[in-house]
Amino acid sequence: MQQARLRILVVNGPNLNLLGSREPAVYGGEPLDAIEAGLRAAAPKLGCELEFYQANGEGQIIDALHRAPRAFDGVVLNPGALGHYSYALRDAVSAIRLPVFEVHLSNVFAREPFRRELVVAPVAAGVIVGAGPMGYELAIRGLLSRLRS
Ligand code: DQA
Repeated sequence: MQQARLRILVVNGPNLNLLGSREPAVYGGEPLDAIEAGLRAAAPKLGCELEFYQANGEGQIIDALHRAPRAFDGVVLNPGALGHYSYALRDAVSAIRLPVFEVHLSNVFAREPFRRELVVAPVAAGVIVGAGPMGYELAIRGLLSRLRS
């Protein structure tokens, strides 16, 4: 029997719209739309449907999380710097009762001390750190495996 195609929302937070030109030594040279196109192309192989959302505002990201349960089975979230200090974002992740995998392209533990604190991660279903753009696919795979088990 064919498995149902799960729907995953991939959310990117502040400054991730600048990927490609932003600190390429840290984040690589791939723009966000190219990362998203690669994931879209991988979706049939992964057996899921993907949608993408990026915003620079904390409230916009929180609103997107609030809407997510109506249309999605899980969320992959790169919260950007919000992941280090936004208790409001953490509360939103706790509130929505959808599994959320957190992604950071860079190894935040090997950078400035303020990046070592992750306040959303304790309520996330999983965290992928330092794998570059591949981290999004790893998170999607982790999410799907959790949703199917
Ligand atoms: C980031 C890491 C954060 O510390 C930073 O503020 C970002 C990007 C990453 O993907 O490595 O905006 O989330």
